[in-house]
Amino acid sequence: MKKIKRIGVLTSGGDAPGMNAAVRAVVRTAIANGIECIGIRRGWQGLIQSDFVPLTRESVGHILSRGGTILYTARSDEFREEKGRLKAVATCKMLGLDGIVAIGGDGTFRGALELSRLGVPVVGVPATIDNDISCTNYTIGFDTACNTAIECIDKLRDTMQSHERCSVVEVMGRNAGFLALYVGIAVGATAVLVPEKEMDFEKDVIERIREARLAGNTHFMIVVAEGAGSAVEISERIQEEIGIKPRVTVLGHIQRGGSPNARDRETATRMGYYAVMALAEGRYNCIIATKEGGITEIPIEEALVMEKHLQMDRYRIMEVMQFGSITPHND
Ligand code: F6P
Repeated sequence: MKKIKRIGVLTSGGDAPGMNAAVRAVVRTAIANGIECIGIRRGWQGLIQSDFVPLTRESVGHILSRGGTILYTARSDEFREEKGRLKAVATCKMLGLDGIVAIGGDGTFRGALELSRLGVPVVGVPATIDNDISCTNYTIGFDTACNTAIECIDKLRDTMQSHERCSVVEVMGRNAGFLALYVGIAVGATAVLVPEKEMDFEKDVIERIREARLAGNTHFMIVVAEGAGSAVEISERIQEEIGIKPRVTVLGHIQRGGSPNARDRETATRMGYYAVMALAEGRYNCIIATKEGGITEIPIEEALVMEKHLQMDRYRIMEVMQFGSITPHND
């Protein structure tokens, strides 16, 4: 087995709290194994443009608790083209990189697969607030984002309660409802709309508001995953059907910021460590994943065709908590 001497680390796609903790773990694990570490800035685009910075033990000091990513991030159109990827390979050769740790989400791993096909060893570390990477139970940043959304919605609830209003809150998640459902359960939402469940507006929204009203509630909290529809449209439909005028809040990018919490710091540190150990021990073109409390490695090619389903038992639990009728148990 060839002893690796130098690796690159990059963050790509939407940032997530805990990315810095992962970068720090990669750098420190590399150094502990006698491997040099180069930070590639602005994700795959930076690799194309030879935008890099040498990283030392000290340069990743005091970043564990910081949100965002010190390496910057980007979504690169150029990298989607063969021409762009060949430039990236040239940068790897010029820098003498024996491998790359790519921290990000689905798009990052599609890029990683293409690069690996051109002969560059890559290990992926899943980081996205959407938790939508199929090969892993957990993605770095999800828990912090849930807590940020919960904090905002708790504040909203105070004013909704005072004014006896209805709130429609849109949360991120891209095409997945993990963030919306976990947050919805944690704030005791009147209703939660997720892309994984086809919406029956009458049953999933109107009836639930009516039931909550009959149970004595005077304010209502509707949580909408961005992939399930727009909060503005949901609000307009509520007004048309039952005459109340909901207030709309789109939480947006605030969910991506902030200091990572304990779970994200700890998971990011473990994942970063195992990513470098995989490269050092000659295993690559895989994604580091959490499984049953431990860490495992899944080949990128396999990981990209896996499916991840929203746990519909959680959806039923959310319904039960709010006096709603229960979705039939047929998923
Ligand atoms: O994937 C993370 C995410 O925040 C999604 O939840 C959201 O749909 C998207 O990125 C927003 O992307 P952008 O930063 O390009 O607005």
